[in-house]
Amino acid sequence: MAELQGAEKQKYVADLFSRISGRYDLMNDLMTLGMHRRWKRRTAALAARGLSGPAIDVSSGTGDLALALARRPEVDRTVGLDLLQSMVSRAAAKAKAQGLSGSVTMMTGDALSLPFASGSFACATAGFSLRNMPDVGAALAEMVRVVQPGGRVAILELSPMPKGLRSTMFRPLFHGLVPFIGRLVAGERAAYSYLPKSVDHFLDADRLAELLSVSGLDEVGYRRLGFGTVALHWGVKRG
Ligand SMILES: C[S@@+](CC[C@H](N)C(=O)[O-])C[C@H]1O[C@@H](n2cnc3c(N)ncnc32)[C@H](O)[C@@H]1O
Repeated sequence: MAELQGAEKQKYVADLFSRISGRYDLMNDLMTLGMHRRWKRRTAALAARGLSGPAIDVSSGTGDLALALARRPEVDRTVGLDLLQSMVSRAAAKAKAQGLSGSVTMMTGDALSLPFASGSFACATAGFSLRNMPDVGAALAEMVRVVQPGGRVAILELSPMPKGLRSTMFRPLFHGLVPFIGRLVAGERAAYSYLPKSVDHFLDADRLAELLSVSGLDEVGYRRLGFGTVALHWGVKRG
């Protein structure tokens, strides 16, 4: 399933995230030992640094990264957009519980066709979602389009690890333990078997950096987080 592309992949991904939306946060906390929260705060800080204005988090799921953006002093309004109403409802409830409803709009929408004019945002983020897109290049191009020239795009994503001792150690954990916990906690072995496979099929960090450059971003860079399992990429829109 991880090798699917286009409409078939979109349908598979939408079905999968509909099934696990209720256990999504708990699974993230278990799989990353809570570290995903720190990575998201870091992504938001990096995206907004030195800018001011509105921000968008694309494929925002249950909303943690959008809410991290909303807490940045540089950001005045935040949009969190996701394909699935089940995710958006959870994100909106979280925004309300955290007293951020006034500055955050959680909405349904398609990352491949964002319902905003070009240059609408100071910065755009995507967390753990580019890998799930039916067309990675098109999703990135949309993020770049809606950011103003000089604005920043930041991508937090699981990343294939360079071959070596670490990847040898992590591989059985990732391909064995994650589906096991997924079955135990979310009753979803299939969804959490897709996860490590989708990382194997995704661009490595250098190739993703190249894609950011050809998508119209300058000052492209990345750093690895989470013992090398995750990469945080960034770039500034040309023009
Ligand atoms: C792994 S979750 C990531 C959620 C959140 N960004 C996070 O970091 O926890 C991937 C999300 O992408 C969303 N998604 C998949 N395809 C999408 C699309 N074409 N447009 C918008 N969202 C999409 C799914 O509904 C799901 O909520």
